This record gives sequence, C-alpha cells and structure tokens, in this order.
Amino acid sequence: MAKLRLGVMISGGGTNLQSLIDACADTDFPAEITVVISNRPLAKGLERATLAGIDAVAIDHKEYEDRELFEDAVNMCLKEHRVQLVCLAGFMRILNTSFVNRWKDRMVNIHPSLLPSYKGLHTHARAIEDGVRFAGCTLHFVRPDLDNGPIIMQAVVPVDIDETEESLAAKILPYEHKMYPQAVRLIAERKARVSGNRVVFDDINVGTEGLVSPFIE
Ligand code: GAR
Repeated sequence: MAKLRLGVMISGGGTNLQSLIDACADTDFPAEITVVISNRPLAKGLERATLAGIDAVAIDHKEYEDRELFEDAVNMCLKEHRVQLVCLAGFMRILNTSFVNRWKDRMVNIHPSLLPSYKGLHTHARAIEDGVRFAGCTLHFVRPDLDNGPIIMQAVVPVDIDETEESLAAKILPYEHKMYPQAVRLIAERKARVSGNRVVFDDINVGTEGLVSPFIE
C-alpha cells in the first residue's frame, strides 16, 4: 500500500517532528514525511528535517501582509508536496477557519494538556497553578476553534506536589513522542476515523495500558 504523505508544520525545536522522522525510518511504517514547514526560519526543527533528507521550507509569517496570504503560501507548499495529512507539531500560529476547513479531517495537532482543559498557551503552568492532580497531552483532529476537535489519543501523567512547569513538560513530552507516530499509523491504516465530534476505531483492540489511550502495540 502507498505510504500516507505527511506535511509536518513546526515553529520550534521539533522533538515531535523527530519522533515522526524516526518512525518513518522504519520501512514498515505506513507514512512518509514529504515536507516540513516552519513559520520561523531559525527553527531547529528545520535542521532535523534537512539532516533526514526531507524538504525543509521556511515560510516566515512576518513576510506576509496578513494571515490569509501566509496561509495561501503554506497551502501551496503542502499541495506542491502532495501532502495528504498535515501534522501540526509545535506549530504556534493560529490558523484561519478557511485553512482549517480546507484540511478538515486531514490535519492533526498535538497539544500538551488533557483537552478540553487548558487550551492555548502556558498549559503546564496553568495546570500547576490550579492544583490539578493529573495532566497530560492530546492528539486531535483540528477544527477551527483553538485546540479543539475530535480526540484521537491522550496520555495522562500525575502532577507531583512540588511539580514545576519544566518538570511537568519533561514528564509529558515523552508521551507526545510516543503518541504521534501511533496516531499517524492508525490514520494511515484507516483504523481511526472521524464520526461526528468523535474518533472511532476500526479493526483494532483498543485498550488502555497505564494511562495512554488508546494503547496499540
Ligand atoms: C510540544 O510540547 C507541543 O505539544 C506544544 O509545543 C511543544 C513543541 O515541542 N504544542 C503546543 O503548545 C500547540 N498548542 P517540539 O517543537 O519539541 O515538538
């Protein structure tokens, strides 16, 4: 079966991108990254892509008069690379409704909180401030409202009494790295699909292992 063509969009370090690059290095993985786009030209993630032999494209939002023109350029780049699934991986710009709708059910995002709690920025600090006992991360299909859309996977971590923003981020990030390739695999193999506001799973034993759901191995 032909591999699903991914376009990964980043703004920074790109550790989630790296987890996808590493997964794609396995010949059995059902997806390949055809382009990495960053709105920040100096993002370290662009180097990661280049090192892996992937087209790395900087589309600097500051060079565009408005969001729409920036997104037109992004869209053109994704089309040129015949992208089938857009993976937002630490992409820190809000996207217009028209762009999101163009990629409806073909764009996913990783967010470092247990959505629908803690949308937006500074998720870890806000969670600690609220004294929540559990935090985590969410992989979801993207809808026009910020950090909203059908949830594919979530992972939960405990929040310690003396937790800091940094320690919580460090605790959650490995789960992000674990979840992203698994979710892409489910989509590529057509085992996860949107039904209404939810994601349903076909032909897999969806279980939970520890605090990752669904857990697929
Ligand atoms: C990740 O923690 C990701 O969940 C978060 O940015 C970080 C990017 O790290 N994304 C968001 O906050 C989006 N709302 P990375 O560049 O090392 O993958």
